Amino acid sequence: MLSENIEKALNNQIKIEAESSQIYLAMACWAEVKGLEGVAGFMFKQSQEERDHMLKLVKYVNERGGHAQVSALAAPNVTFNSFKEMFEELYKHEIFVSDSINELVHISLQEKDYSTHNFLQWYVAEQIEEEAVARTILDKINLIGDDKGGLYLFDRDIVTLTVNSASTVNPQ
Ligand SMILES: [Fe+2]
Ligand SMILES: [Fe+2]
Repeated sequence: MLSENIEKALNNQIKIEAESSQIYLAMACWAEVKGLEGVAGFMFKQSQEERDHMLKLVKYVNERGGHAQVSALAAPNVTFNSFKEMFEELYKHEIFVSDSINELVHISLQEKDYSTHNFLQWYVAEQIEEEAVARTILDKINLIGDDKGGLYLFDRDIVTLTVNSASTVNPQ
C-alpha cells in the first residue's frame, strides 16, 4: 500500500512524464515541418518513450493500491528560434526530470517505502542515459554552429545515433 505522500509524489511524476511526451511531440512536429526528418523521427521516438515512462508509473501506482491520476497538462512550446534552442530546451528539461526523480527517491526513503525505492532505480538509470544523449546532441550542434551542410549531415546521422552512457556500458 502506498502512503498518501508517495502516491501524491508518484502522481506528480506521472504528470511530468506526460508533459515530457507532449514537449517532444511538439518538437517532432516543428522539426518535421522544417524538413528535418531525422530530427523529427528522433523526437517522435523520444515522445513515445516518455509515454512509456508515464505508463510504467501508472501501472505501478494502481498495482500498489493507489489511484493513478490523469490530469490536465501544461501546453508545450510549439515553435523555436533554432535547432540549437530546441535541443537546449530538451537538455534542460531532462535535468529537471532527473531532479524530480531524485526528489522522489528521497521521499521514498523518508517514508521507508523500499518497494517504491527499488522501483525508482530504473528511472534513475534511465535519466543518466537520457541526460547523456541530450548532452551528446548538444555538443554536436555546438560544433555545427550555423553551418547548413553540417545540419543536413546531423539530420542524417541522428537516425543512427547511439550513446554509450555509464548506465548502459559494462566496463571490460
Ligand atoms: Fe521520462
Ligand atoms: Fe526523458
